[in-house]
Amino acid sequence: MADKKVEMARCKVLEEAVKREGGCEMQVPTPFCLVIFGASGDLTSRKIIPSAYRLFAKGLLPERFCIIGTARSGMSDQDFRADMKSAVSRAFPDEFSEHTWEDFAGRLHYVPLESYSDAASHKALGGKLGPLEEKHQSGGNRILYLAVPPQTYEPIIQAVGAAGLSREEKGYTHVIVEKPFGRDLLSACRLNDVLGASFDERQIYRMDHYLAKETVQNILMFRFANAIFEPIWNRRYIDHVQITVAESGGVGHRAGYYEKSGVLRDMFQNHLFQLTALTAMEPPPLFAADRVQDDKVKVFRAVRPFPLDRLEDVLVVGQYARGRMDGKEVPAYREEERVDPESRTSTFAAMKLFIDNWRWQGVPFYLRSGKRMALRKAEIAINFKMVPHFMFSNVVEEAIEANELVLRVQPDEGLNLTFQAKRPGTKVCLGSVMMDFAYPSVFGLEAYERILLDCMQGDQMLFVREDAVEHTWALLTPVLERVESQEPSVFPLFRYESGSAGPPEADELLRRDGRAWRAL
Ligand code: BG6
Repeated sequence: MADKKVEMARCKVLEEAVKREGGCEMQVPTPFCLVIFGASGDLTSRKIIPSAYRLFAKGLLPERFCIIGTARSGMSDQDFRADMKSAVSRAFPDEFSEHTWEDFAGRLHYVPLESYSDAASHKALGGKLGPLEEKHQSGGNRILYLAVPPQTYEPIIQAVGAAGLSREEKGYTHVIVEKPFGRDLLSACRLNDVLGASFDERQIYRMDHYLAKETVQNILMFRFANAIFEPIWNRRYIDHVQITVAESGGVGHRAGYYEKSGVLRDMFQNHLFQLTALTAMEPPPLFAADRVQDDKVKVFRAVRPFPLDRLEDVLVVGQYARGRMDGKEVPAYREEERVDPESRTSTFAAMKLFIDNWRWQGVPFYLRSGKRMALRKAEIAINFKMVPHFMFSNVVEEAIEANELVLRVQPDEGLNLTFQAKRPGTKVCLGSVMMDFAYPSVFGLEAYERILLDCMQGDQMLFVREDAVEHTWALLTPVLERVESQEPSVFPLFRYESGSAGPPEADELLRRDGRAWRAL
């Protein structure tokens, strides 16, 4: 009887969760144990634990699970729970419930790890996981989450393998690896090899949180679940594509990482290239992870190698200077904490690329991303060709604009199509009008919630496969080498005012082709 009541209460919670998620049924995963390496770090408190808590509060986690934080600092379960409690209440002040927290916190534990690189420490960790998993009946399913600085990935993975923690005995073992996944082709291949020595590809979840954004997932639905767009989604009708991921924030507290990374590694190798692949790929035969990954990789393989002897023609890089944002003076990148005052790290890039296949031959894809830009905005704009013959030239004097379809990734998620219509009145007048679809303001799961849930369910659709990582690095590595080398000459790094749309030189990239960036 008691069980039935619990079951009914669970169904109710689930029903509500489904309603909140906009009617698409969400499956509750099987019991699991999430082991977070780097549990005392920023990512754990900012993203992983708050997302797990939120899933729990929405009724989307199973009854039986545990989360075990591990790191080198000594900490008790109580200390860990107290830290995580303040992190969650800080992340979601309006959603935090003492009652739900108590329920959730009972499943949180902390196990110190002597050393990240030594197998004996990991063996000892394994020994402590067993009884906790037993206690919480997590069914032998394990997720190992590497929330540690990238230089510790390899030693941890090797030690995890040597300690036998990657083996699947009673259930699954999955490993989540955050970006940056390598810093060039060689290091990415090495990391893939190290992972491959202990895990099957099926167990590896390489994260790109952009793929988990609802609007990014929707690109495939929009393109391939509607009959009206696909016939015109090609070189016959599309003039060019613009992909923008602009950020208003600066480097913040991440200068240590960013100084060695820069915008090409931080945003292009992953987020912008993934958006490009989703926009350009062929329809896969089935909406299944491997099929979708196959067609994405075909796009990367078809990208025309960048002309290294004329790289300036297709790439502009910049670094933010001082400026005013929200009425306040903000420092230049070189004045940020822990940034070299003579740093040549780029915080902005604009790039033109071509995809050499039948669908896209001759259609430029313009990509841009930067920090400290006027606004935070991510979008994909499909710019259609002009009509082949303008039959109104005898009655309309002004030039008309070509159709444009904009997929708005964030904020203000949705899409809009601009087209020409007659302006009401006696005179024949044309004007641009817009058809706009906006997503409801509260929808779907936040990216980290989605990632956790998909990894629990063994769905690799929103993760990056080994070959995609290697192909994207293969494209970018020669470009990075040229940009970062002094030979044969220093590659120009342009300053741009904070709060602007990037360096004016980036406009030139399009102006030369008779085009212009969409206003931010
Ligand atoms: C991360 C980058 O991957 O994406 C950050 O490392 C960047 O530098 C962030 O700020 C942007 O993500 P979002 O979801 O805020 O657009």
